[in-house]
Amino acid sequence: MAVRHFLTLNDLSRNELRALIRRAIELKQMHHNGEIHQPLKNKVLGMVFEKSSTRTRVSFEAGMAQFGGHAVFLSPRDTQLGRGEPIEDSARVMSRMLDVIMIRTFEHEKIERFAEYSTVPVINALTDRFHPCQLLADMQTWVEHRGDITGKTVAWIGDGNNMCHSYINAARQFDFQLRIAAPEGYLPATGVLAQAGDHVRLCATPIEAATGADLVVTDVWSSMGQEEEQLAREQAFAGYQVNRELMAQAGADALFMHCLPAHRGEEVTADVIDGPQSVVWDEAGNRLHSQKALLEHLLS
Ligand code: CP
Ligand code: NVA
Repeated sequence: MAVRHFLTLNDLSRNELRALIRRAIELKQMHHNGEIHQPLKNKVLGMVFEKSSTRTRVSFEAGMAQFGGHAVFLSPRDTQLGRGEPIEDSARVMSRMLDVIMIRTFEHEKIERFAEYSTVPVINALTDRFHPCQLLADMQTWVEHRGDITGKTVAWIGDGNNMCHSYINAARQFDFQLRIAAPEGYLPATGVLAQAGDHVRLCATPIEAATGADLVVTDVWSSMGQEEEQLAREQAFAGYQVNRELMAQAGADALFMHCLPAHRGEEVTADVIDGPQSVVWDEAGNRLHSQKALLEHLLS
């Protein structure tokens, strides 16, 4: 059987994604009950991080430990990857020793090349283009709080970045309506948009996107690798803050999500992210359970 990778949400079918979310909720309950479940005994996950991480690293490492397996942290600073060993060679070598590999890197094309030469599943732990693991946690969080997301309206406010692209994929895969408000010059990639068809609409203003929405989502204005653009971005995104006034336009029981880390006072105000509509801590915690479901699925 061909090896399964998870580079974007499109690598799993709609049915697989829904089953995975149900399984994540089940695994969470089992974990809270103190049940020991070790389907990945003796399995080893390689974790290649070319960018910083708190949630992704901790959740994958903890998940493997809970599953009876092990995780190896690999940074370019102290592996040959950082000294220019070709990706193709690294993939062939690592996949002879590891059972599954997660990678956080810059160009999406790099992880595609790695996956092409890997004989074990490769998981996208964030590239400049997509962050599909975060969407698994977001969808789990929605289901836990509100049930089925089919037909609901989600407002994306801010940068047309990796998270926005994964929301676009999610709109099609999970069958919800996505409204995006992003400033000129920071719109999502047209190639990604085109795949989602009428599940996605670009809006002229944050208010237009947020009005009546069931879920409001945002992310940092400057992603990892864009630190030098911070000033220009602060100006471009000035009208794109999720604050109390914007949340008031959304549905009365709308939820707020953010993948974190957040910058209070920039893309979101403290009263929103720390307020009653915010589910960001459940969202972060669900990285553990949804990725365990993913590992179990890819390795079983
Ligand atoms: N949301 C997320 O991926 O967080 P980290 O960068 O801390 O992994
Ligand atoms: N868009 C952010 C997400 C961080 C989890 C980044 O790429 O830095």
